[in-house]
Amino acid sequence: FDVKWDAVAAEKSGYPHFMLKEIHEQPRALKDTMTGRIDPERGDIRLDEITIKAEDLENIDKIFIVACGTAYHAGIVGKHAIERLTRIPVEVDIASEFRYRDPMVDDRTIVIIISQSGETADTLAALRESKKRGARIIAITNVVGSSVSREAEDVLYTWAGPEIAVASTKAYSTQLVSLYMLALKMALEKGTVDREEAVEIMREMKQLPEKAQRIIGGEQKIKELAYQYSKWDDVFFIGRGLDYAVALEGSLKLKEISYIHAEAYPAGELKHGTLALITEGIPVISLVTQEQLYEKTLSNIKEVEAREATVIAVAMEGDENIAKNANHVIYIPRTIPFLTPVLTVIPLQLFAYYAAVARGCDVDKPRNLAKSVTVE
Ligand code: G6P
Repeated sequence: FDVKWDAVAAEKSGYPHFMLKEIHEQPRALKDTMTGRIDPERGDIRLDEITIKAEDLENIDKIFIVACGTAYHAGIVGKHAIERLTRIPVEVDIASEFRYRDPMVDDRTIVIIISQSGETADTLAALRESKKRGARIIAITNVVGSSVSREAEDVLYTWAGPEIAVASTKAYSTQLVSLYMLALKMALEKGTVDREEAVEIMREMKQLPEKAQRIIGGEQKIKELAYQYSKWDDVFFIGRGLDYAVALEGSLKLKEISYIHAEAYPAGELKHGTLALITEGIPVISLVTQEQLYEKTLSNIKEVEAREATVIAVAMEGDENIAKNANHVIYIPRTIPFLTPVLTVIPLQLFAYYAAVARGCDVDKPRNLAKSVTVE
């Protein structure tokens, strides 16, 4: 009788792996992260922990988002959201790169630090360096009392609950909604978004947990696709704009837990190199949720189709057209294109999970990787 094993099994609440449990927890985690903070009725975002005001924002020229791994990928979505709503230029940086290039950070800079654990060594060092240079630090973290939360001026907690699997899932999606809330809050303070648009975004955000649940409810199809394509040694992810940002995360998930070589490419950049690797049958997961980029992405999908690759499209419900250019389509519930990353990532997490299971990998503890990297 192994008491320890039993305790772990209990913690997993019947799931075979923490990762699957955590993917399934996303609707609740998203809801908890938004509860009490989004008020579409009053057109208001209430982030008590964020004390930044209109007058502070007037003196800001630039925002940096600094993070590692999955949190860095969330930052890329955050850049789109913040630039679009606040019109302040945003640069996203990998913490281990940022510190060593004498970054142009001063007291007219906001540095947003994203870290699930709040303990990643490079991220923490980037925070300290930015602070030394006079920047205002806003942290987005999942761990109350973590080093990052203690050292930042403003802290926005993701209420994802403990994340145990090495591969991050619910931390990512809750980081996204946190970044959307922060972008909205800053834009409302600055007056760069009109209230009507802000209200529409908030209303759509409130529906994300239910829509995420619908995707999870349809996981059987994703599981079948993952089993079918898990024998390949290379998989490509393509997309444009926010779809490219999510492609990066989908590719990271797949490589870290299934050990399949996966690469994410901006769809329009394919012909500058990667197209040489596209051969018959190779799976190309193609994200096509951004209306204004639809035709452009479609023409890139046709380029891979012409090389007889297998196109697995992730598209918005109601897009019948895409089926003509794809071998398989995974539909996600409709939302405004701006918010799709929160939903689009879920099929990619599930695909990675089931591909890893099909290959017999140790899903929760992939080789050579750690949950929290406290060495530089
Ligand atoms: C490790 C984990 C990743 C995580 C990254 C950053 O590499 O395996 O899942 O995204 O660290 O961690 P943090 O706690 O700073 O978000």
